[in-house]
Amino acid sequence: MGQHEPVDAQKLRELDIRHHLHPFTTFAELAKTGSRIITRAEGCHLWDAEGNRILDGMAGLWCVNVGYGRERLARVAFEQMRELPYYNTFFQTATPPAIELAAELARLLPGGIDRIFYASSGSEANDTIVKTIWYYWNLMGRPEKKTIISRTLAYHGVGLGSGSLTGMSFMHEPFDLPLPRFVHIGNPYWFAEGGDLDPEEFGRVAAGWLEQKILEIGPDKVAAFVGEPVQGAGGVIVPPPTYWPEIQRICRKYDILLVADEVICGFGRTGRTWGSETFGIEPDMVAMAKGLSSGYQPIAAVGIGRRVGDVIFAAEKEYAHGVTYAGHPVACRVALENLRIMREEGLFERASGPVGRHFAARLAEFRDHPLIGEVRTCGFLAAMEIVEDKETRRPYPPERRVGFACREISIDNGLVMRAIRDAMVLAPPLTITEAEIDEMVDKARRSFDELARRLGR
Ligand SMILES: Cc1ncc(COP(=O)(O)O)c(C=O)c1O
Repeated sequence: MGQHEPVDAQKLRELDIRHHLHPFTTFAELAKTGSRIITRAEGCHLWDAEGNRILDGMAGLWCVNVGYGRERLARVAFEQMRELPYYNTFFQTATPPAIELAAELARLLPGGIDRIFYASSGSEANDTIVKTIWYYWNLMGRPEKKTIISRTLAYHGVGLGSGSLTGMSFMHEPFDLPLPRFVHIGNPYWFAEGGDLDPEEFGRVAAGWLEQKILEIGPDKVAAFVGEPVQGAGGVIVPPPTYWPEIQRICRKYDILLVADEVICGFGRTGRTWGSETFGIEPDMVAMAKGLSSGYQPIAAVGIGRRVGDVIFAAEKEYAHGVTYAGHPVACRVALENLRIMREEGLFERASGPVGRHFAARLAEFRDHPLIGEVRTCGFLAAMEIVEDKETRRPYPPERRVGFACREISIDNGLVMRAIRDAMVLAPPLTITEAEIDEMVDKARRSFDELARRLGR
């Protein structure tokens, strides 16, 4: 299909329903409604098959950090495909892009994290982390130290290991997960769980749940704690500033590895290169994906710090793990060029500069909206909580699907917002301008007003 040629949307929709199984979709529902088919994109905007122009408030799935339509990324992919479209990194071979990207990531990563293992998705990166945690403690002669603690409402992916780290019951129950040796504690979601505590106090209480769980299991059996600096798919849960320092202290006290899942927070999303920098976390390992290539190529990576890296590097044993496309040369070239663009345009810090402040200030206006109980922002991440009662923070009953309704209204108004329960979430490209933020706020306001009208408020 050529550029901008009209597509037969109806025909595509029929084929889609008949043959294409989508992730995270109720197929019976899809069969009735059909898909919205996205055909092209430029900057922060998408176009659907009907020609509607839609502001992408979610940067795809929190990933298109440099925005759409970057010729430079297309060009390096084309050049690399001509030169060397594929070669693997198994059995003591490598390609220049895989090596150069590893060195660049080692330069960017905090706290001496300087060894890089590649994967193709965030889920694979987190499965790699799970196996590497277990491998490390085996090499250390502590095979009983295997339980991994993560949090409810965590999202770490869908593999057997990464899906077990994930803390969403609707993702566990149909598939008999989590596997044994995965344990979840509560999360620092002050708006929903904080009650009468002030956020700082609640942050300390929520971190204390980790210590309680470690003592319950026995520190000799606990291998690691894994967490997103800001829980993204759980609803943009921005932890109180007291939370992470306390988590860090507890992990050190009980000799437990600390892993930061930077799949969303990495590469400038929170206003620093890493979410770990924003929250003062010193992780032993990090998972990254999404913003690494701004979604232009499927690529992910695990950054491994000295403590674990030196042990597995020195072992006289094969690291018997890896996927065909680990360090794919085209993906690595695109990621390198993407990081170059981010550096040249100041995108790693843009969310903490004037445009980031404009984003936070404009969204804060919704605190006065009759439907909105809380507005949370961290860099270019935001959540706006729709509630039935602002005073008591009482949500609507889930079966009313108020967030879902808001999302549909919003798309019809030309804005992609994501609904997580009834929190309306935004994570736009890091290139978003002040004028586009204003467009986003106008469209969001129209959507909240329309929803309020339908709810009789
Ligand atoms: C924090 C986090 N970790 C891991 C993943 C899984 O990544 P993928 O969908 O590439 O497997 C995601 C995806 O949204 C994520 O948000």
